[in-house]
Formats: sequence, C-alpha cells, structure tokens
Amino acid sequence: MRYSVSELSDLIRDRRTIFPKDYTDRVVRREIVERILQNATWAPTHGMTQPWRFVVFTGEGRKRLSDHLGSEYTRTTPPEKFLQKKYDNHVNRPLQASVAIALGMARDPVGKISELDEMHAMACAVQNMHLTCTAYGLGGFWNTGAVITGDTMRAFLGLGEQDRCLGVFYIGYPGIEWPKSHRRSWVDVVRWVEE
Ligand SMILES: Cc1cc2nc3c(=O)[nH]c(=O)nc-3n(C[C@H](O)[C@H](O)[C@H](O)COP(=O)(O)O)c2cc1C
Repeated sequence: MRYSVSELSDLIRDRRTIFPKDYTDRVVRREIVERILQNATWAPTHGMTQPWRFVVFTGEGRKRLSDHLGSEYTRTTPPEKFLQKKYDNHVNRPLQASVAIALGMARDPVGKISELDEMHAMACAVQNMHLTCTAYGLGGFWNTGAVITGDTMRAFLGLGEQDRCLGVFYIGYPGIEWPKSHRRSWVDVVRWVEE
C-alpha cells in the first residue's frame, strides 16, 4: 500500500457541494488557491493536451463576473421566463464566494483529441480541485447552465472560438455544519462479467 486507502476513501466520501450562500466572508489565502489549481493540472489528460484554462476571480475581480452573469441572464431570458431567484443567484454567488474559478476548456489546435475526452479531463481536474478543497475544509460548488457555458461567457473569458467554459467552481469557508450525503449502494450499479 502506498497511501492510506482508508483516509483516501474518507476524503472522497466527505467531498460535498456547499453553495456560496452558505460561505462565510473569510478569505481563502492565495497559497491555498494556488495549490488547488496546481492539483487540478495533475488530472489525467488524453494526448497530454492539458485542456484546462482557469480564470480566477477574487477580491474586486468577483464583481466583474457577477456583472457579466447578471446581465447575460437578463439578455438571454425572455421576460415571461425571467426568475428573480435565478438572477439573484447569478449576481450573488460570485460575491458570496471567496474565489470563483471559471473552468475554461481549450481545444488543441490539431484536434486529435475528441471534445468528449477533453471534457472528461476537465471533469477529472474539477474533482481534484474539489477533493483538495475538502482536505482544506473548504466548500466547493460546480455551477453550470446556459449562461455559464454559452458563447458569450467563452468570449468574456477570452477563450478561443473552439473553446468552451464548462462551469464556474465556487470556493469558500462554510458557515454551516459540513453537510452529509448519501449514495445508492455501489452493489446496485455494478454488473460483474466473470465467465
Ligand atoms: C458537471 C456538474 C455540474 C453541476 N452543476 C450544478 C448546478 O448548476 N447547480 C447545482 O445546484 N448543482 C450542480 N452540481 C452539483 C450537484 O448538485 C451535486 O454534486 C450533487 O447534488 C451531489 O452532492 P455532492 O456534490 O455534495 O455529493 C453539478 C455537479 C456536476 C458534476
């Protein structure tokens, strides 16, 4: 055994989505954010394309993201579908979190790796981030949706035409008790083929 599987399993099971509304104002130190990003880049990557392009919004920078998400939701939502709660979430989340990391995915220019595989690699990177947050006692929340993953967000982040934003990952210190969760039994989702 090279690591404690027991500790690793505990960490994996303890990883929780905690929403920005439940974060305190405590600022996440720069070295911690850097470690989270560094661990992200150690995700597996088909063809070593390393598609991740992170844009980190902190401090006053969070206001830019907040303004963008709010105005983009308003621009793209027909008045009859406009929900104040959704608008408020878009505007408030970047300000409630200490850090908001936009998850840019860059396609490699040669196109030898499929978009699906690049998305898989991105998801692995986000998991690395989220697990690292858990180790620090930080809440994390992967937010997706049309406003965040659309073309305007891609342009806002300065990504290329072929690239895409796969979400915003919010980070902050929880002001609530660490949440518990559950999963259906792994036994129910596994089929063994043995002969
Ligand atoms: C790709 C992806 C996108 C997600 N996007 C959202 C989202 O937009 N809104 C949301 O409330 N939760 C989102 N989640 C978080 C899930 O709701 C959460 O993982 C699930 O409730 C299980 O909780 P846990 O992460 O604490 O185990 C997303 C999760 C993944 C993997």
